[in-house]
Amino acid sequence: MNTTVLDKPRADLRPLDVTEIDPFIDLKAEIDRLRRQRNAVILAHYYQDAEIQDIADFVGDSLDLSRKAAATDADVIVFCGVRFMAETAKILSPQKTVILPDMAAGCSLEDSCPPDEFRRFREEHPDHVSLTYINCSAEVKALSDIIVTSSNAEYIVSQIPEDKPILFAPDRYLGAYLARKTGRDMTLWQGSCIVHEQFSERELVKLMGQHPGAPVLAHPECPGHILQHADHVGSTSSILNYVNGSDADTFIIATEPHIIHQMRKKAPDKTFIGAPGQDGACNCNNCPFMELNTMEKLYLCLANMAPQIEVPEEVRVKALRSVQRMLDMSPPARPARHEAVA
Ligand code: 13P
Ligand code: SF4
Repeated sequence: MNTTVLDKPRADLRPLDVTEIDPFIDLKAEIDRLRRQRNAVILAHYYQDAEIQDIADFVGDSLDLSRKAAATDADVIVFCGVRFMAETAKILSPQKTVILPDMAAGCSLEDSCPPDEFRRFREEHPDHVSLTYINCSAEVKALSDIIVTSSNAEYIVSQIPEDKPILFAPDRYLGAYLARKTGRDMTLWQGSCIVHEQFSERELVKLMGQHPGAPVLAHPECPGHILQHADHVGSTSSILNYVNGSDADTFIIATEPHIIHQMRKKAPDKTFIGAPGQDGACNCNNCPFMELNTMEKLYLCLANMAPQIEVPEEVRVKALRSVQRMLDMSPPARPARHEAVA
């Protein structure tokens, strides 16, 4: 079968599957052709495979990607990230078609926070303001007061009146980090990221001994026993900014290792070492959800115009309130540094 000639969306046809992709096609060229034909923008998170980051129109952290999804004038948003990110794009841009390469790309933080249980949590704390990490379902966003990401959470907490207690869900480590940093009274939902809680403190300390002076850069989804060794704690963008502004020549990176691709592109002569997992050598810090997205599935979702993200309108309108509050309360956007060059 020749899958290279697709002049109209396949939504009305039987969708192709991975086994039907012509093994001889140039996937990059085909993705590029379909992106133009569909007037689509490809947004990718830093935890995606290097090839996907390189073909994307824009690579960013969760906040950058939300802003981009809200501002784009493309007809189609192809979200190379996980489902909650694509849902956020749909919440902000309901008139656009939002597709992602694999609908099974979830998130352990989202899974830890079922909407019914979260509703009860809120009802048990009626005087609290509810700040919720963007890594949650659209239903949980709809039940929250304000959404935050790791790059704006501290800034947003600082705008909550001092006497107001805070409910923070679903990441207990990010919540504990924020409570320590801000000194605020925070009641935490007990969720966690299965990727960031895999880092081994013992192996990290060994690595620090082998590379004295190498800054340790950590994402706040890491547990406190890892964060206590960090020279810098921040979102994926903030970790990249730290590297770009540093004179060090070796760095230890305690977040999902696909981000190292951007570091190597900016500073090919420097050394970036992923912080080790429990046995010091495993791949357990690759996000298994992000890894579901492949170049083949990216091609197929553009060819098939599926799978598409749908958010029931009633949920979307409520979720938009908490997401919009986040955008209104965020620090001004930095210039986009990872815009792909055509
Ligand atoms: P940021 O890119 O916003 O730091 O988020 C990290 C993350 O875990 C996304 O799932
Ligand atoms: Fe979720 Fe963790 Fe994967 Fe991010 S890295 S998508 S928080 S499981």
